[in-house]
Parts: sequence; C-alpha cells; structure tokens
Amino acid sequence: MVESSMKILITGGAGFIGSHTCIELLNAGFEVIILDNLCNSVLSVIEKVEQITQKKVIFYQGDIRDEVTLELAMHGCDAVIHFAGLKAVGESVEKPLKYYDNNVYGTLCLLRTMQKLCIKKIIFSSSATVYGEPKFLPYTEEHPLSAMNPYGQTKLVVEEMLRALYVSDPTWSIAILRYFNPVGAHESGLIGEDPRGIPNNLMPYIAQVAIGLREYVNVFGNDYDTPDGTGIRDYIHVVDLALGHLKALQLLNTSQCTAINLGTGQGYSVLEVIKSFSKVCGFSIPYRIAPRREGDLPAYYAEPKKAKELLGWEAQHDLMKMCNDMWQFQKNNGQDTL
Ligand code: NAD
Ligand code: WQD
Repeated sequence: MVESSMKILITGGAGFIGSHTCIELLNAGFEVIILDNLCNSVLSVIEKVEQITQKKVIFYQGDIRDEVTLELAMHGCDAVIHFAGLKAVGESVEKPLKYYDNNVYGTLCLLRTMQKLCIKKIIFSSSATVYGEPKFLPYTEEHPLSAMNPYGQTKLVVEEMLRALYVSDPTWSIAILRYFNPVGAHESGLIGEDPRGIPNNLMPYIAQVAIGLREYVNVFGNDYDTPDGTGIRDYIHVVDLALGHLKALQLLNTSQCTAINLGTGQGYSVLEVIKSFSKVCGFSIPYRIAPRREGDLPAYYAEPKKAKELLGWEAQHDLMKMCNDMWQFQKNNGQDTL
C-alpha cells in the first residue's frame, strides 16, 4: 500500500513541477528524497521547499545515469516519481543524442535500479506531445500516439519501455501522466518557473516582458484556424498538476500500467493569455505578431475525464490564478533571470 508515511524518491525534484510536487507530498506527510543533478535548477529551491513546508528533505545531487548514486538514493523507498529529464523541444532537434541519452538511457538506468531493489511503483512525467497531430479533439488517452520531434520521441520511447516492462512483470504499478501546458507558481511566490536565457514557453516569456526584462511578446502566428487566429493550448496550474501526482500515488496500490491526461479540458489562445496576464499586472503587455514557430500545432486540449474517474482529481485553478501566481513569483524573483 502507498500510505502517506511512505518514502518517495523524486527524480528531478528541484525542477519546476518536481519542486511543487515535493511540497504537496511533504504537506501530506510523505517522506521525500530528491535526486537531481541541477542541470536545469538551483540548490536554493530545496531550501525554499523546506521553508514552505517546515519539513526536511533528503537531497542527493547526482545524475539518474549514475546507478551507484541512484541505488543509494533509492534505498528504502516505496515508490518513485520520475521528473528528471530535458524538455526543450528546439534543443532536442539540434542535439537529439543528448535527449535520448538523458531521457531514455536515464530512465533505463532508473528502471534497472528499481528492478534490482524490487521497487516497482513509478509515476512517469509524460506529455501531451505524444499525441502528435490531432486526429480529433479533445485528446483522449486513446488518441493515436506519434512524435513530432526528438523530445517527443523520448517520451514515446519511455512510455513503450514502461508498457513492455509491465507486460513482462505485471506486479509493477505504473502511472504515465501526460501533462498539458504547466504554468503558474506556488502561492507563496517563492518557487516557480525560472528559465535560464530566453524562455521557450509563452507564460515565462510574458512574465519577463511584464517585469521589463524584454520589450514585447512575439505572438507566433495569428493566421491559424482558431477564433482569434492564435494558437490554443490547455494551460494547467502547476499546483493542480502536483496534486494530481499525490492522487496518482494512491493508484499505485493496484498493479497496472495506465496513461492519464492531466489538463483542464479548456483551451486558451495566446492573445487570451496575454490579456489575462495584463489584467493581473494592471497594464497592457506589449506584443507583436511574428511568423508561426516551426513545429507548432494550431490547437490542442485535454479530455480530463479519466483523471476524474480514476484519481478523483480535477484542476481547480483558472487562468487568472495561473497568471497571478506567475506574476507574484516573477516580481519576487526580480530581474535576475537573464
Ligand atoms: P525542469 O527542467 O524544471 O525539471 C527537471 C529537473 O530534472 C531539473 O531540476 C533538472 O536539473 C533535473 N534533471 C534533468 N536531467 C537529469 C538527470 N539526468 N539526472 C538528474 N536530474 C536531472 O522541468 P519540469 O518542467 O519540471 O519538467 C519535469 C518533467 O515533466 C520532465 O520530464 C518534462 O519532460 C515533463 N514535462 C514537462 C512539461 C512542461 O511544459 N514543463 C510538459 C510535459 C511534460
Ligand atoms: C504555447 C503557445 C506558441 C512562446 C511546449 C512543448 C510541449 C510541452 C509544453 C513538454 C503556442 C505560443 C509561445 C512565445 C508564442 N512540454 N507562443 N510566443 O509549444 O504548446 O508546448 O511546452 O512536454 O511538448 O512543445 O508551449 O508555451 O511554448 O507555447 O506565441 O514566445 O504560445 O506558438 O501557441 P507548447 P509554449
């Protein structure tokens, strides 16, 4: 049984989604071990997680491909939540081997070590990107799978690896969570998404324009077949996402290998997001229409019914709350993100 007194290994726990999940787990009474190589995060996040929860975290700075450290960190754990991975789509096109090595080989090392230690409960961070070009919307979990770039391919390969593992040994319990577009920050304003360099994603980019770090938002295309011509996505508050993991841990009490969408079911356009953010910060965020970004889909959003039925989970926070929490975090974080 997965009970709240149990010990959970969180790979990538210093990252954006991992750190918010650690908070919810600690608040629920779980013991949390983090393994992170800090390739896309900073050590101070661990202190902030402890500050918010007033609980202690055990932290190993190490790589999931280092099976010695992995075994040390995993020893005595009951389950693993596996966030560690690289996620920049553009970089994955330029450096596919780096992505296969980190995301696929890294997960292979993780699963091998879990098997060795007889720890057979895992939650894996997958992505809506595995659905590829929409054949129908909203995406249900039964939508055909295909990848549009090496990042997406690594998620698909890992999903296949997990399904094959379960077929070979049905005593595993595997939850594959397919996230839509995670945004927002913790209500405390202490932790959030703080990308290094130019943000790839819309919400952090808007926040950097709002704080004065960048001049205007480039809206990638306004000639899509959508109501205002700009791209539509299913944005989900990172705390809602974190709570989804807490619920998914309960699912691991039963042996299975299940994929579940974590989204709100509601799509918003780029211009709607800019408008909501402008409302929250009290001034208009400047933007310019730019050419379409290569590889972008016009619109997609989740069918979140399965999560409600299986996990008893649904997203609670609306777009205004996502923008508000992101804005509070960006203000606290000041202008030091360049
Ligand atoms: P993030 O980059 O903020 O967090 C990932 C963490 O993993 C970082 O702290 C990084 O230092 C660590 N890490 C990476 N490779 C590692 C390795 N080899 N060994 C140890 N630590 C390693 O990203 P995030 O947004 O929190 O995403 C978490 C997971 O969710 C990723 O697997 C990502 O692909 C997936 N996901 C993210 C999104 C999104 O838009 N943020 C959407 C869908 C899926
Ligand atoms: C959202 C919308 C852009 C930036 C990516 C990955 C996906 C998943 C989530 C991990 C789109 C538009 C963006 C900007 C813009 N990650 N946009 N100006 O592309 O939906 O998803 O993150 O699994 O795999 O591809 O997110 O935030 O980059 O874009 O107009 O400066 O905003 O065209 O319509 P995306 P995003």
